[in-house]
Amino acid sequence: MELQESTPLLTTASVSRNQYGYNAHVCFDRIWTGCLALVLIVGFSTGMYLLSQEGDEEPIRESFYLVTRRYWNAEPPGANTVNLTLPVYRILLSQTNTPICETDSDCVKQVQDLQKKHKYTLHRSDILYNFLVGGDGRIYEGRGWQYKADWRGVDAVVLRLALLGHYEDEPPRPSQVDALLAFLDISVMKNRITPCVMVIVDHTDNRYFLDTAFKLEKFIRDQNKC
Ligand SMILES: *[C@@H]1O[C@H](CO)[C@@H](O)[C@H](O)[C@H]1NC(C)=O
Repeated sequence: MELQESTPLLTTASVSRNQYGYNAHVCFDRIWTGCLALVLIVGFSTGMYLLSQEGDEEPIRESFYLVTRRYWNAEPPGANTVNLTLPVYRILLSQTNTPICETDSDCVKQVQDLQKKHKYTLHRSDILYNFLVGGDGRIYEGRGWQYKADWRGVDAVVLRLALLGHYEDEPPRPSQVDALLAFLDISVMKNRITPCVMVIVDHTDNRYFLDTAFKLEKFIRDQNKC
């Protein structure tokens, strides 16, 4: 119906156009093209300006993607789990020594395999870590905030974070570090991690690890003026 109504109008307009009207139309077209070009130039410049402004700011992400236990199809934890006391004062950063996973499905599979290995080969109550970060830039919930990690080191209560993969020869992916920074930032805000947290590592001979741990600790402490 609408099509039928508008079609005659178009026809009328073209039929009734005289010489003057045609020129005026061309003239209008030029003005219109000019306006359009101006709009495009202004828009483009504004876009570039905003982009350059954005580049000057700290590239800290404000969110991260959390893959919950339910999503990666975790088995329930064993009986001898101990509750975690919040907020945590120390974070232990580890690597899983597995191939670096790039896709969501590879990372999910790896987390599942780790849980099985820790439960049935190492005879622990659950996957060792509280959270893991994949090469896909997502955070995987391990024991989460509910259960304390198995750690027999000097610092009995730590939050164990692990980078899925191995980083002897290359640094962690920027997406992994960014996700961890956002994770720490939000966890401090939610009072699950103390603002002046310490980040320790269990691969002290690995410079990429030390660098990452230092970067995380410095970020969170600077942010909170510790
Ligand atoms: C552990 O936490 C759960 C849930 O918050 C609670 O129901 C349980 O009683 C706690 N267990 C101990 C031993 O405190």
